Amino acid sequence: MTRLAVIADIHANLPALEAVLEDIAHHDVDQIVVLGDLVGRGPYPRQVVERIVQAGWPLIRGNHEYYLLDYNTVRAPAEWKNHTMTAWTQELLGSDNLKRMACWPDTLSLRFRDAPPLRVFHASPETPFHGFFHHHSDDYLCEKLAGIDEGTVVVAHTHLVLDRQVDRWHLLNPGSVGLPLDGIQQARYMLLEGDDHGWRATQRRVPFDYDALFAEIRRTKLIENCGIAGRIFAHEFRTARPQIVAAHRWLHSAYPGRAMDEAAFEEFCSLNFWPYQNKSYHVFVLQPYYTLGDGLEPSLDLRRAEHGDVASVEQLLVQAVAGDKKQALQQWKLNVPDQRALLASIERGEVYLVADQGEDVAALRLQWYDEDQDSKQVLDTLYLHKVIVRHDVAAQALERRVLAWAEQAAREAAKAHVRYLAVPRAQV
Ligand SMILES: [Fe+2]
Repeated sequence: MTRLAVIADIHANLPALEAVLEDIAHHDVDQIVVLGDLVGRGPYPRQVVERIVQAGWPLIRGNHEYYLLDYNTVRAPAEWKNHTMTAWTQELLGSDNLKRMACWPDTLSLRFRDAPPLRVFHASPETPFHGFFHHHSDDYLCEKLAGIDEGTVVVAHTHLVLDRQVDRWHLLNPGSVGLPLDGIQQARYMLLEGDDHGWRATQRRVPFDYDALFAEIRRTKLIENCGIAGRIFAHEFRTARPQIVAAHRWLHSAYPGRAMDEAAFEEFCSLNFWPYQNKSYHVFVLQPYYTLGDGLEPSLDLRRAEHGDVASVEQLLVQAVAGDKKQALQQWKLNVPDQRALLASIERGEVYLVADQGEDVAALRLQWYDEDQDSKQVLDTLYLHKVIVRHDVAAQALERRVLAWAEQAAREAAKAHVRYLAVPRAQV
């Protein structure tokens, strides 16, 4: 049997790397494989690269290594001009390390004698810049994996774990060591055990020293050197959620034409960011010490919708679509289903209504399968689709109480994840 540890997306976070290496030391692995994005965003680029290069572990480049190698050269696309963080990272890293990085490969094919061949990429076979997400269809993934002979393919880049059989490929993602984006402030990595039967993955999660990370962020003057982008990236580390795309999406809808600044970002941080968040990251991982509703009691005046509730659900949907248009949130493509489809969903027992002082103020759909997937292969997940909360009551933490309730329902059904797919506000 061969035992591997796969680590990826360290993002210059040395405390997270050290915590993971300490955990790996208890697992007697034959090799540690490093899948790119060793640097970028964090304050320890030199320490992380030198630790890994000195250990001599097999490694590949990620998109953040490309930023460093191509920034300010003829190869850089025009939009990289605004990358305030790249020059700062280059300086901390030093030219020797940049020259080493220039010689790293983009992919590795691993051929152990006692296990099937295994292939690794940073994001996907065709590019280190676009990764594979949970919502991608089997057809899409097959098209991207065509031509890969190895039956096990390990990728990273999304910072979200994946363990999925797609046609003849076992597709895996270990999540991120240094910049987790699933809402849990812990480093992620993956153990792999390979033998004649294939590779089996165990996803590991390890706490790390956040105080040390933030002390180094302050000491290296990350925010002072990188401006508002540095401020947003520090917030990503703190919240373990992607922020920069959502922040700009919100700015574009709230203040068209305005550039992001400290005041605008403060305002964004005080808002519910889920309507602006890329839907791939609407994922919550359940575990005993973590609650979606921030410890709120899931006390709700909630009932399963019946036939007579169609008009009420429809009205909330119509208001949500109007709110959606107003905020230019194209990603949801929310529409009001025809009454027959709505009734069918109610008959399947998927639709719930929440009342406040006798008035229906929120609607949601709970499903035990993924309506976006034909293969319905993810069975450890509860899907919370189209949570619609009336705008005027959203301030009362109703959304979070709905999430806390869904979390409890998922736990009672022994599910490991909740996927939360849309939060349009119904404007009344
Ligand atoms: Fe990354």
